[in-house]
Amino acid sequence: MSTVLIVHGGRFGQSEKIANQMRKVLEGAGHSCDFVPLTKTTTPDPARHQAFLLVTSVRYGYFDKNAYRLIENNRAWLEQVPAQVVTVSLTARKPEKRDPQVHSYTKKFLEKSGWKGRVEVVAGALEYPRYSLFDRLAIQLIMRITNGPTDPSVTIEYTDWEQVDKAAAAFAAEL
Ligand SMILES: Cc1cc2nc3c(=O)[nH]c(=O)nc-3n(C[C@H](O)[C@H](O)[C@H](O)COP(=O)(O)O)c2cc1C
Repeated sequence: MSTVLIVHGGRFGQSEKIANQMRKVLEGAGHSCDFVPLTKTTTPDPARHQAFLLVTSVRYGYFDKNAYRLIENNRAWLEQVPAQVVTVSLTARKPEKRDPQVHSYTKKFLEKSGWKGRVEVVAGALEYPRYSLFDRLAIQLIMRITNGPTDPSVTIEYTDWEQVDKAAAAFAAEL
């Protein structure tokens, strides 16, 4: 049985919620997990961790630069252990966008980071009431362009939990 380092990025808690669901599946399969936020200094401990999971979200087209930093600084280790990245975004609310080679943000992330491990593209949540005025207007604009909801009172969780459980189970089976 492995000890998995689970790192969650994001700002509004959806990446953390997805990471936590995956933690439950991994623990249910008998693995243990260290569950930590993504920061500038997040680093695996090769003496302790035998696998790696990163869940992080898209914000204005970009992933947290700490995700790139973590991958760059630990590349040799990451290429030796089972490793999974989960990208969280609203564009992934459309199932046809969940192919990493179709989902433009994930495709760019893979190219830029040189990530070689598993990849899952998962839909996040739309939570207008929690956004600042600027963020709300920006997200409303994106939603208008992509035919999504623009009502500012709306909260919708698009995350497909079956997809999340399946990805976690496939990862658990590799450990
Ligand atoms: C300010 C802001 C900018 C966002 N930008 C994008 C974006 O460019 N593309 C996209 O697909 N989703 C975008 N999203 C959607 C988030 O990825 C989604 O809400 C996700 O669930 C957030 O995860 P978190 O709670 O872990 O931060 C944005 C959300 C916010 C609040």
